[in-house]
Amino acid sequence: MTTSVLPNITELKPGFGARIDGVDLAGADDATLQAVVAAFHQHGAILLRDQPMKPQDLLRFISAFGEPEDHTLQENTLPGFPKIYVLSNRIVDGKPIGAHNDGIGWHTDYSYRAEPVMSTMLYAVEVPPEGSDTLLADGCAAWNALPPERQAQLDGLELHHSWRHFMNTREFNRQEEPSEALLAENPDVLHPLVRRHPSDGRKALWASTGTVKEVVGMPNPEGLALVDELVEFMTQEAFVYRHKWRAGDVLMWDNRCTLHTGTLYDDQKYVREMHRLWVKGDRPY
Ligand SMILES: [Fe+2]
Repeated sequence: MTTSVLPNITELKPGFGARIDGVDLAGADDATLQAVVAAFHQHGAILLRDQPMKPQDLLRFISAFGEPEDHTLQENTLPGFPKIYVLSNRIVDGKPIGAHNDGIGWHTDYSYRAEPVMSTMLYAVEVPPEGSDTLLADGCAAWNALPPERQAQLDGLELHHSWRHFMNTREFNRQEEPSEALLAENPDVLHPLVRRHPSDGRKALWASTGTVKEVVGMPNPEGLALVDELVEFMTQEAFVYRHKWRAGDVLMWDNRCTLHTGTLYDDQKYVREMHRLWVKGDRPY
């Protein structure tokens, strides 16, 4: 399936991402959905605007990409929809309906698992008029911008990712300590610093913050300083797409070749509600 059946594709920024217009996702036939999937694999991220999507529409759409992934913290999922995770500051009957301030800081999702999620989709139900942007950094562009000598030094390095480390050092959502059962379900893993994309072999710089504890074979603080340097390099403006949200936006990015971060907003003044869905991924190589 090629992307040519899609009526209108424009890049989100030169060389990265695709805004797809003229498709109604909730009513799209399977061939159209497969063309959207193909655009996703090619461009690193896709954006579709003005999409009225019910939870079951979101599940059908995400299932075109693969199997939906479970979420680590089930208490933040939409009632009746365990695959739909709610990001919100909204309080209903005295209880938060979702996670607040998740995903601040450059990272790739589920990086503490042996098979991190292939993609992350966010659907905007209600968004503040300012703040709460989502930023995506293009790991392929960053890799391609490195001199060959630097690439040779970095290719083959491995990062030690740890959910325990992440839980112990995170700045947000510190309200309770993770249970021993959850820690046992999420043992430490090693992932490559430079990741190949299975669709065409293209390479991406794949450093991250949060879950990275060390560079294998490199003592700290030098190891983490290298990770910080690479994240800073990859997230400079030249490689970053900044998404300003509108209600009805579907933004989906490929975690195999990007980093992302949320940004804060005035949560006393505004309400934000986003629905997040994940697609299962493979072992990085
Ligand atoms: Fe995230």
